[in-house]
Amino acid sequence: MAVLEIPDQDKVIRGYENIHAYLDARGIVFEEWHADRHPAKDADQDTILAAYQHQLKPLMEKGGYTVADVISVYPDTPNLGPIRQKFLSEHTHTEDEVRYFVEGQGLFWFNLGSDEPVFSVLCQAGDLISVPANTRHWFDLGEEPHVRAIRVFIDPSGWVPHYTESGIDKMYNPEYPA
Ligand SMILES: [Fe+2]
Repeated sequence: MAVLEIPDQDKVIRGYENIHAYLDARGIVFEEWHADRHPAKDADQDTILAAYQHQLKPLMEKGGYTVADVISVYPDTPNLGPIRQKFLSEHTHTEDEVRYFVEGQGLFWFNLGSDEPVFSVLCQAGDLISVPANTRHWFDLGEEPHVRAIRVFIDPSGWVPHYTESGIDKMYNPEYPA
């Protein structure tokens, strides 16, 4: 169950309908999905993708996404510090960043600009979020990273972070050991 926070307004938004409404008004896709059968903890990529195929297929067809994969990050994942740091700085992508959280969690931060306050969305198992292309955002794996997520791409080679160097992220991120 996701949690949306707006630190500068001391505001927390809970509940699927409320979070969906807030994000939908800002052009951000947010859905709750359910597996048609629950994949085992050690299930391989193809088994996980098959379990969500009934929701994944229409999403991919609608958005023109051609490739799906599964990414896993755990506390014992090698090179964890650099992996975390790579996404902790504000950046954009030229295509949507679509994530379905199969297990664990991750924190997306959004800086939509103009008069919009910076806000975060803690995504947990069952949550689907799509960060629209060219949206300023960053992603925090947390102190004890634990996430397994489905990603979809139009072209995986296009999914690279373009850093904004705004420094806004540093006003919100905790300090993590390197
Ligand atoms: Fe990103």
